[in-house]
Amino acid sequence: LAEQIASFHVNPQTGNIITDKVTIVGAGQVGMACAFAIMAQGVSHHLALVDMQEDKVKGEALDLEHSSAFVRGGLKVEASSTYEVTHSSSVCVVTAGARQREGESRLNLLQRNVEIFKGIIPELVKHSPDCLLLIVSNPVDILTWVAWKLSGLPKERVIGSGTNLDSSRLRTFMSQRLGVAATNCHGYIIGEHGDSSVPVWSSMTACGVRLRDLNPKAGMKDDPENAYDVIKAKGYTSWAIGMSVAQVVRTLLRNESNTHVLSVHAKGLHDIDEDMYLALPTIAGPVGVQKIIALQLTKDEEAQLQKSAQTLWETAKDLKL
Ligand code: NAD
Ligand code: LAC
Repeated sequence: LAEQIASFHVNPQTGNIITDKVTIVGAGQVGMACAFAIMAQGVSHHLALVDMQEDKVKGEALDLEHSSAFVRGGLKVEASSTYEVTHSSSVCVVTAGARQREGESRLNLLQRNVEIFKGIIPELVKHSPDCLLLIVSNPVDILTWVAWKLSGLPKERVIGSGTNLDSSRLRTFMSQRLGVAATNCHGYIIGEHGDSSVPVWSSMTACGVRLRDLNPKAGMKDDPENAYDVIKAKGYTSWAIGMSVAQVVRTLLRNESNTHVLSVHAKGLHDIDEDMYLALPTIAGPVGVQKIIALQLTKDEEAQLQKSAQTLWETAKDLKL
């Protein structure tokens, strides 16, 4: 671990990363929501934005930078259609690529986004060889695996946004149903960030009370997944994923041992034999993945997780990189 820390730009006293420079590739709806949340929450004061649409990304950078007077410590935002501006970033977030059309599943996007990743990931690693990669583009679990393969980085340093957003949707849903602040509602969605995701109803709690003790049927019918509703209504999702990514980037820059439900290399966990990524609760920080939490799942939840892993594996196993 000490060696790993030394190879990063990490302050050995605090464990925090010394430079807070964050790159975001893809200045579309998701990328800009991430950029805005990262800056508005003071997670980073130095961003590099890359998008193939050069005018657009430069315009977005100027617009963001014009808010410097409202942010303690000011802002620096660089922008380009090429990767020199990304040099020496601590975290590189990838949101570039195609998104779902109404009714389309995330897995449908795979081949289009793999081709896009071939042009992005080696460039990021070339300019920031010590970075942590945080993948957001869909299908996020498989594309995180793709990014890991294309990057040559250790698996601990390539992470996907996973089901952190889905878990926040779940907590919002619990909060609305129970009339308790979402911050007091706890629960995880794990597995694929997609149609086969697994809500872990057996361990959900609100104010320390297990949902299953309140209602043994909790979770049997209600489906907290509502990305399709948002896409149907506004064409894409952006604000909640932006907030979720900002929270994860904060964790990656600071040594705070926070847990998020992230796409991580899952081989050897929960009887998963394949070389694949899927979402599990993870403690992460400036060295990347520190620990993956061993959840106590019911038989039914284990079976659902196996099915989710199978769905991802069936889609990814014949991919040619
Ligand atoms: P968008 O179309 O608004 O933006 C995509 C951007 O990527 C565009 O600006 C485009 O110019 C850029 N781009 C495309 N190819 C590029 C390349 N080779 N190099 C640099 N830039 C390139 O799409 P969006 O709504 O921002 O969604 C982006 C991705 O995020 C989609 O795959 C979407 O499904 C995914 N997403 C993931 C989550 C999650 O929880 N993981 C949530 C929401 C959206
Ligand atoms: C989400 C995207 C579409 O908002 O993956 O869940």
